[in-house]
Amino acid sequence: MKTSIGAKTYVFPTPVMLVGTYDRKGRPNLMAAAWGGVCCSKPPCVCIALRRATYTYGSLVERKAFTLGFASREQVADVDTIGTCSGRSEDKFELLGWTPRKAEHVDAPYADEVPLVLECELVHTLELGLHTLFVGEVKDALAEDGILDADGQIDVLALKPIAYAPIVRSYHAVGGSLGSSFTLGKQRGG
Ligand SMILES: Cc1cc2nc3c(=O)[nH]c(=O)nc-3n(C[C@H](O)[C@H](O)[C@H](O)COP(=O)(O)O)c2cc1C
Repeated sequence: MKTSIGAKTYVFPTPVMLVGTYDRKGRPNLMAAAWGGVCCSKPPCVCIALRRATYTYGSLVERKAFTLGFASREQVADVDTIGTCSGRSEDKFELLGWTPRKAEHVDAPYADEVPLVLECELVHTLELGLHTLFVGEVKDALAEDGILDADGQIDVLALKPIAYAPIVRSYHAVGGSLGSSFTLGKQRGG
């Protein structure tokens, strides 16, 4: 038996992404975004949904570029700080003692301290209501050596990504592997 709990975005978990932008004056800023994820493989695209009220919104519209940083679980308090104060009044890099770097392929900054970064060019914008959906084409991905396995692929357990539970507003660690996709299903007998 199931209980109706209302029309809300119960999607568990979502990623928590650090959106990097330059403002009008060229100052680097980060915000946390949990509304978004992968939306196309070819061309490789990701999406984020931002409220107009964020400082990042105007910077992204103006520069048409952003980075997405993925922090490790040790950085969860920093992520929360980034998601609870505004670049309008705070220099978040200074506040956290983080180092801004300029992305090579797009006009946006990222934090050197974050182990995985996607450099994105804004390709689509869709007004949805409270949030606006921004689709970015990934121009390059930067990964710290420590999160790559022997084949040069992302080692998810080494990355230790932070998962987020919307509505209940909690951060979660990502656990061990359950198996490989496109393989487990085929291993069934019969
Ligand atoms: C875990 C977490 C997830 C968030 N996800 C989003 C989101 O997807 N979209 C959004 O507009 N704001 C989101 N926020 C709120 C913004 O990060 C917050 O308003 C921030 O202060 C905006 O920064 P800025 O004004 O420097 O752009 C989130 C906050 C937290 C803590």
